[in-house]
Amino acid sequence: MTNLPVIAIDGPAASGKGTLGRRIAQALGFAHLDTGRLYRAVGLGVLKRGEDPADPAAAIRGVQALDLSLLEDPALKSDKTGGAASKVAAIQEVRDALLDFQRNFAAHPPGGKGAVLDGRDIGTVICPDASVKLYVTATAEIRARRRFLELQAQGSARTEEQVLIDIKTRDARDMGRTVAPLRQAADAHLLDTTHLDIEAAVARALEIVRAGLQP
Ligand code: CDP
Repeated sequence: MTNLPVIAIDGPAASGKGTLGRRIAQALGFAHLDTGRLYRAVGLGVLKRGEDPADPAAAIRGVQALDLSLLEDPALKSDKTGGAASKVAAIQEVRDALLDFQRNFAAHPPGGKGAVLDGRDIGTVICPDASVKLYVTATAEIRARRRFLELQAQGSARTEEQVLIDIKTRDARDMGRTVAPLRQAADAHLLDTTHLDIEAAVARALEIVRAGLQP
């Protein structure tokens, strides 16, 4: 058993938890795992086989046949893949299959100093004993605006209205599912980034994390 510090970051789509996770890991010299990429890779594999990510049998086949090279696929970050990810993520067997990998990363992070994991159920299911838990959120409108600008920079033709609908649909699915629904853990610190730019959000998150890591 190792007892290295673990930082758990959860929150809804486009809340900024990925960027925060990366920046916190950099600042502390910890390893970072964006767990959403695992669910996205499963969803993308199902789409590439022409199957329906909402079909439990197809989702289970997808996680059993998970091709890790999909983690580098340019389509991984698309909204279509995000939608497929949130469908396969509602299936218990898919979550069970990804559990050991995530817990193992937290217990034995590359670099051996500590781990930052971000996702939807890190503080509630994957690492309930994490050293510090953050729940990062912002209004759906602000999150849609940020995601829209990101997609636009990548050449996507999706409108801001469409992105807002995608985000609300995914939030409802992630919060409403029976298996590991997205929710704030009782001992998580709430970080609302609605009125914070990324630098201000990183500074606030680091304050919370450093205070939480004090013996
Ligand atoms: O970056 P964004 O917030 O848009 O999404 P993501 O973190 O890449 O996650 C994509 C989808 O995977 C989410 O909508 C969740 O349904 C699912 N997911 C999950 O269920 N549990 C996690 N720990 C991480 C992601």
